[in-house]
Amino acid sequence: MSDPDGFWGAQAERLDWVKKPTQVKDVDFTLGQVKINWFADGTLNVAANCIDRHLETRGDQTAIIFEPDDPNEPAQNITYKDLHRNVCRTANVLESLGVRKGDRVVIYLPMIPEAAYAMLACARIGAIHSIVFAGFSPDALAARINGSDAKVVITADHAPRGGRKTPLKSNADTALLHCKDTVKCLVVKRTGDQTTWIAGRDYDYNEMALEADDYCRPVEMNAEDPLFILYTSGSTGQPKGVVHSTGGYLLYAALTHEAVFDYKDGDVYWCTADVGWVTGHSYIVYGPLANGATTVMFEGVPTYPDASRFWQVCEKHKVNQFYTAPTAIRALMGQGTEFATKCDLSSLRILGTVGEPINPEAWNWYNDVIGGGKCPIVDTWWQTETGGHMMTPLPGAHATKPGSAMKPFFGVKPVVLDPQSGEEIDSYPVEGVLAIKDSWPGQMRTIWEDHERFEKTYFGDYKGYYFSGDGCRRDEDGDYWITGRVDDVINVSGHRMGTAEVESALVAHVSVAEAAVVGYPHAIKGQGIYCYVTLMNGVEPTDELRKELRTWVRTEIGPIASPDLVQWAPGLPKTRSGKIMRRILRKIAENDFGALGDTSTLADPSVVDDLVENRMNRE
Ligand code: WTA
Repeated sequence: MSDPDGFWGAQAERLDWVKKPTQVKDVDFTLGQVKINWFADGTLNVAANCIDRHLETRGDQTAIIFEPDDPNEPAQNITYKDLHRNVCRTANVLESLGVRKGDRVVIYLPMIPEAAYAMLACARIGAIHSIVFAGFSPDALAARINGSDAKVVITADHAPRGGRKTPLKSNADTALLHCKDTVKCLVVKRTGDQTTWIAGRDYDYNEMALEADDYCRPVEMNAEDPLFILYTSGSTGQPKGVVHSTGGYLLYAALTHEAVFDYKDGDVYWCTADVGWVTGHSYIVYGPLANGATTVMFEGVPTYPDASRFWQVCEKHKVNQFYTAPTAIRALMGQGTEFATKCDLSSLRILGTVGEPINPEAWNWYNDVIGGGKCPIVDTWWQTETGGHMMTPLPGAHATKPGSAMKPFFGVKPVVLDPQSGEEIDSYPVEGVLAIKDSWPGQMRTIWEDHERFEKTYFGDYKGYYFSGDGCRRDEDGDYWITGRVDDVINVSGHRMGTAEVESALVAHVSVAEAAVVGYPHAIKGQGIYCYVTLMNGVEPTDELRKELRTWVRTEIGPIASPDLVQWAPGLPKTRSGKIMRRILRKIAENDFGALGDTSTLADPSVVDDLVENRMNRE
């Protein structure tokens, strides 16, 4: 692209600005002075862009189709007019609880329309939301409430999922024991089950929304004001609060949604992610609604009541674009083709995947069985940090190859770096680490209240570039293949997990002296969680203890962090300076112990023999 600023300046026209920006980009990737600004003198409101501006032309069009967990419960069609009323009411409820521009609100909800109302209500009054996935534990929730010093947490009585119920309110109660006592709890009625109630702290959303005014004026925000915080795992320490902006983020989510899914007026679009992850932010709520789309919100799981649920929902709502994760495809593929072929999938036009590399076998099944060989597959590579798609084939414009994210999106400048020297490698085919040379409007702006960590994490390793943490290959045609994380982040069922987080949960258990966690290949999840655990002196290594540790991690972090394999390790391989040699632990976990490499620098090489002998993965 010869004139990226001109391109982005023209693209800004797709948003409704209160004050049109005259500046496009002001960016510096230099360590020590990193700044990222887009459209910095423009002002707008995200909720007005996602709702109000559509009212005149498509007020009666469905904005959100809500498909509940239980297929016998009726779906809901929420029009743009309904959305406007509900978002305004929710915004007024939040204001009545004292929430003002710049305040933080934590959202801990099931995949119900109220989650979208809450997000947009925050945007409407200029509050910054921070969504916590409903599968996270009370501890993780408390850390996020405290991390952003939130005024209000919005939750529901229970979250129905796959026929079971997660007690969200009770989790929130536990979390709030560890938070300031000024934090208010706004409770949405989902199942109607009884919950505990603390007068003065807990507020009934349904009652308050019913009484609230139907209109709430959208607050004028600067393009660079934060829209939301979303915590994500890194290679060290606790999760970091990724901060996204108002103008650049919305523009990028909207443009990518339209271009990558070839979204046309009247299409029904379905992204199966949860709003607790970035995919749900950008491609269930913000991107689609900014484009005036009809977006499906699904509360359930792919296998409930059985493995045809996704395809039944596609048939029922005549879905045109379907976007999911490779792990779901692999799981459904394993259940047999009949679950899909018995449904009418003729409405599908575009298929998408996200979250992890897709293996060719799953890609081919998706292409043949779900797409009937006629739907382009967009394999979208991007990250919480990037706000929207960074590399993907564009339907109709690019060829596809099973497993390749193919080409950068408009204006994105990927580079492959030599991991050691940090030099750009221009030739191809080539393999190295993936970095981005210049900014794009959807880029994260900072880590919440820790700009230094932001600079160090993303701009510290390779000077002058945004470093993705992924490895990649560029083939002889110049197409990109993501090879996975090169840091200590693992990808379990498309969910990012820092091995350091699981380790710190394990060592918090009284019986554990030391722990090291790595990923290993898992047929359905992509990667599984493999834990090496050294017990305290005198503690018996039993199967009960193994189970207990698994439950322990689930309660500390949440079910998504549940260890798959736990190996008792009398010792861990360490260098003489005491550093754990993870390379060796990864190899053993991968059952690839023939190629352990040089172990001569270990303080005690014999620990390796024990680990190999007692390895848990023998596939
Ligand atoms: C991985 C999810 C291969 C990658 C949007 C990245 C992928 C991490 C793909 C970000 C893809 C995402 N092919 N790998 N199409 N998409 N990844 O922040 O390792 O939850 O760094 O964002 O997922 O995960 P996150």
